Amino acid sequence: MDIKKIRIALDGPSGAGKSTVAKAIAARMGIVYVDTGALYRTVGLWVMQNGVASDDVQGIIALLPSVEIELLYRDGEQVVLLHGEPVGNKIRTPEASMYASAVSKIPEVREKLLGLQKDLAAKGGVIMDGRDIGTVIIPDAELKVFMTATLAERARRRYKELCEKDMETTYEEVLADMEARDKNDRERESAPCVPAEDAVQFVNDGYNVEESAEYIIALAEKKAAELQ
Ligand code: DC
Repeated sequence: MDIKKIRIALDGPSGAGKSTVAKAIAARMGIVYVDTGALYRTVGLWVMQNGVASDDVQGIIALLPSVEIELLYRDGEQVVLLHGEPVGNKIRTPEASMYASAVSKIPEVREKLLGLQKDLAAKGGVIMDGRDIGTVIIPDAELKVFMTATLAERARRRYKELCEKDMETTYEEVLADMEARDKNDRERESAPCVPAEDAVQFVNDGYNVEESAEYIIALAEKKAAELQ
């Protein structure tokens, strides 16, 4: 197959470096990067802005018809719009992260974001990062990778990332937040964060971004060659 048309499903828990690695892969391969977590984060932000508690499932469901989310690309960068306004870093605060995790457990929320994600995948030439890309969004993806790293390593990376964005937080806060979100994501009934049966499992402790990207690109090239 034409490697430029490949669909890569990159799943795994928070802080495994999926977004940074996926961005590097997209740039190197000339394909599109889709950050699906940003969509759940945007729903979470909308819930937060409306003063609805993160555990108020009925309240969240009631808000869904009013949320309008668009995803577009500006200079190759994904931009998520909430009612026409770019959400920017507002979706990256620890509070917004917790809201994202809470709303992502609700099947109605997942259903709302399903069509948008499937449309993005349909064109091919994409690497999508999330939790259920290989199991739900693109079950027939040419390549599925479940990428993870140990909890301490993931918390360390996320803390560094937040510091670089000048967000005020501590390592302990990030670690506790990540542990709680891991548990939520893994144990939820709707689309839990588990590897697809045919996913390649990749634990990337000790790999830097370039090395992780290279590892996955090599898998993609092998797949594309097999599908000739
Ligand atoms: O990848 P992230 O940390 O930006 O994701 C934010 C939240 O959204 C996280 O708690 C898991 C959830 N999520 C999901 O349930 N399914 C996806 N495909 C992507 C993210």
